[in-house]
Amino acid sequence: MNKVKELFTGKAKTIYSTDDQDKLIMLFRNDTSAFDGEKIEQFDRKGMINNHFTAFIMDKLAAAGVPTHHEKIINDQESLVKCLDMLPIECVVRNIATGSLVKRLGVEDGLELNPATFEFFLKNDELHDPMINDYHIISFNWATQDEIEKMKALTFEVNTILKQLFLDAGMLLVDYKLEFGRFKGELYLGDEFTPDGCRLWDIDTRKKLDKDRFRQGLGGVVEAYEEVAHRLGVELG
Ligand code: C5P
Repeated sequence: MNKVKELFTGKAKTIYSTDDQDKLIMLFRNDTSAFDGEKIEQFDRKGMINNHFTAFIMDKLAAAGVPTHHEKIINDQESLVKCLDMLPIECVVRNIATGSLVKRLGVEDGLELNPATFEFFLKNDELHDPMINDYHIISFNWATQDEIEKMKALTFEVNTILKQLFLDAGMLLVDYKLEFGRFKGELYLGDEFTPDGCRLWDIDTRKKLDKDRFRQGLGGVVEAYEEVAHRLGVELG
């Protein structure tokens, strides 16, 4: 499958069309960004790690019955995916309170949430991805009621699968963000699942093993991503 045209360049990935109109190539670059693109840095090997990481997680999810866009890895930094019509929505599940939730609600950082909580955000950098609710999504026609229900159900299903997967590898899945899109009338999980879009803490030390290392200038960003991959048994290039 060949790249035909660059369609979209995001903060960490570039999307290309292919000879097949139903398929795209997703290139994971070494760029890492935070604070809506205000802080950007390149990290050697990060694109490769995130590509293999996403493929590993998407395969696990697909095996458990979650429909995903992932088709196959093409090379270390590129994967072939279904061409989804992406919804402009981010779905976040939180098992432990931290990050924007703590700032917004003034709750204790590190508080375990039982049951886990769910939030929708609008994907819009200029507006700093504001939080939205089901009514906004319907009124502005960003998705249907059926899609809202499916996004919630699938995002929680992913939580059940991945919480255990990370726990078995000695990590707490603190929170994560998912994005969905339409393909031939059905909803599929798109985008990526990497330590860029989730929070992972070591179960014993609570050491941060995700993009918070970059956001907070803690150093050892790629080393942490590599450690997570290693603990899960993800084969890297
Ligand atoms: O910043 P906040 O606490 O709302 O982030 C919740 C989770 O969603 C974190 O795991 C974060 O990495 C992820 N996220 C993301 N992309 C965004 C916003 C949040 O991957 N634009």
